[in-house]
Amino acid sequence: MGTIASIPREILIEGGTFYDPTTRQTSQASVAVKNGRLAGLDDIKPEKAKVIDAQGCIITHGFIDIHAHFREPGREDKESLATGSMAALAGGFTRVCVMPNTDPPIDAPEGARFILERSEGLPVIIYPIGAVTKGQRGEELAELLEMQAAGVVAFSDDGQPIQNGQVLRRALFYTRDLGIPIINHAEDVALRAEGVMNEGALSTRLGLPANPALAEAAMVYRDLLLAEDTQGRLHVPHISTALAVDLVRNFKGRGVPVTAETTPHHLGLTEELVRDFSTNAKVAPPLRGQEDLQAVVAGLIDGTIDCIATDHAPHTVEEKEQDMIRAPFGMIGLESAFGLAHTTLLGAGLTTEKVIDLFTTGPARVLGLDLNHLIPGQPAELVVLDPAEEWTFTRDDIHSRSRNTPMLGMKFKGRVKATLGLNMWFNTL
Ligand code: DOR
Repeated sequence: MGTIASIPREILIEGGTFYDPTTRQTSQASVAVKNGRLAGLDDIKPEKAKVIDAQGCIITHGFIDIHAHFREPGREDKESLATGSMAALAGGFTRVCVMPNTDPPIDAPEGARFILERSEGLPVIIYPIGAVTKGQRGEELAELLEMQAAGVVAFSDDGQPIQNGQVLRRALFYTRDLGIPIINHAEDVALRAEGVMNEGALSTRLGLPANPALAEAAMVYRDLLLAEDTQGRLHVPHISTALAVDLVRNFKGRGVPVTAETTPHHLGLTEELVRDFSTNAKVAPPLRGQEDLQAVVAGLIDGTIDCIATDHAPHTVEEKEQDMIRAPFGMIGLESAFGLAHTTLLGAGLTTEKVIDLFTTGPARVLGLDLNHLIPGQPAELVVLDPAEEWTFTRDDIHSRSRNTPMLGMKFKGRVKATLGLNMWFNTL
């Protein structure tokens, strides 16, 4: 559970381990917060402060999600910037980049300004991502330079792969010197056909139209060639297959300017979840088999994949209650992200600190965002994590307006105990 409320003026977090991902330094000190900033222990009055017992916990920089869908404008019945921010805070996130596949799409500077204005006063920092093409139709480039001037941190037609190679080539070329990436939804539309799940023995048995690993890899290969040709900055979202991880590894090794992300669900959940035709497990790209999951984890370990992003994709109950063919793709993921990723990666031998890096410095580097050093005077953009807590993910953990997740009832190890955002905090302690 946990509540979201105004941040107390003074907070003293005692007994935990302090980890600064910007320096990778760990210390055992208590942490003081005053008026939303880190403070010296002498600067607060412990008898007046809200004291938090963080025994066994790690206190670190708030997480950054570079891939979420908040549906505002247009589908606030699924999620608004305000409700998405609450879900983010409950998941340990203090900054979220929102995808432009809204209604209308964010493909002009007015749209970017709208997102920024609507985000003022919210408890997390919202960064808009602008569309690559007008209306996300994949034909004509959107107002890229103007949108960057208005504050977008990347360009993407996410949800819609850019099919026309010439369009993406031009986009990469134009944005080469802007210092921000193009994020192309990596699925070849012809190859994925109308697939609603991963192609393999299970899809044959279930008789569902399937989407092969090849659809992702073919698009990633083309995009990597275009990035090499133009030297434009490419970011591969939600990578999910061994084939695509190998391609990124290869081209990165050749010095091509590419980064990649995966999601907690592509790391930790398999296609087995659609065996009972559960539409909440229908997602694009689809959940894969064990071998792909292992390759994605290996890609995170060797640095081929730079970070974890949620692809939080809220949809209504009514839409998800349709059958597997008609239900939309996507699952919410902010509140479960750390639990699922930490459980999976700990099992693969990673440390909690490395998982924290994948939610903080990793995404910050992809988009060139500055993190705070965790020293007195800096904003207290913090998350308190219990790496040992074993817990079950339930409806009570969801703060999103939607609840389309296949993870209800799953057991995770590692839990967000508190998040200090802007003016508001999420607290269970
Ligand atoms: O499953 C998905 N849902 N994948 C995407 O890329 C888009 C997202 C959405 O917007 O619902």
